[in-house]
Amino acid sequence: MTELTIAIAKGRLQAEALALLARAGLRLADEAHLSRRLAIEDESGRYRFIFIKPADVPVYVEHGIADCGLVGRDVLLESEADLLQPLTLEIGRCRIVVAAPDTNLTDGFGMLRVATKYPRIAAKHFGEHGQPVEIIELSGSVELAPVLGLADCIVDLVETGATLRENGLQIVEVIAESSARFVVNRASYQLKARFVSSLLEAVKAGMQEMVVRPPSPIGRETG
Ligand code: PRP
Repeated sequence: MTELTIAIAKGRLQAEALALLARAGLRLADEAHLSRRLAIEDESGRYRFIFIKPADVPVYVEHGIADCGLVGRDVLLESEADLLQPLTLEIGRCRIVVAAPDTNLTDGFGMLRVATKYPRIAAKHFGEHGQPVEIIELSGSVELAPVLGLADCIVDLVETGATLRENGLQIVEVIAESSARFVVNRASYQLKARFVSSLLEAVKAGMQEMVVRPPSPIGRETG
């Protein structure tokens, strides 16, 4: 019988999350990697993985549909979900930044128009600086907004910096550093304590192995 359901953020974190879980001993059959199925058991049958959009991971875990999840800190900062975060993971490192065509952002703008997938993070950041803003919420390709005149700046993730560079944007300010977090539903943490702590220990061991033998870089540009 399945012991735990684990929600995994699809997209940029997914490959690294699966590699970490594999090092922790949770492996998917080869055909499962190629499958479009969104709920898959690992080879041992003890764990069920569900693959969902990053912003939905806190929702599934808070409601107990998933016992645990792997998701970026950026998503958790934007979410209001009440979750336990027992482990910071060494994967999915990125920064949440303010970026614009010109680093001299405040001169002559007054009310800043800010395009973002992170309206709460953006509103909080500019609110703390006493800067009036109009938040323009987008769901992707945010870097286009200042280029096409929809916004003066963006609040978005930067990993390699390639998307900013290639769209003529510069970092004005770093709001926060982000990496993935292992999150746990409050009730599961109590009611399935044995299973959760055994998984946490396995993931910690998997992380140590990654530090000793870091994965070779694939795909994305670095620098
Ligand atoms: C993220 C982010 C940036 C880009 C940054 O978008 O919103 O657009 O990655 O990565 P880089 O610094 O390595 O270039 P994502 O790829 O998740 O897609 P999206 O724009 O559709 O949200």
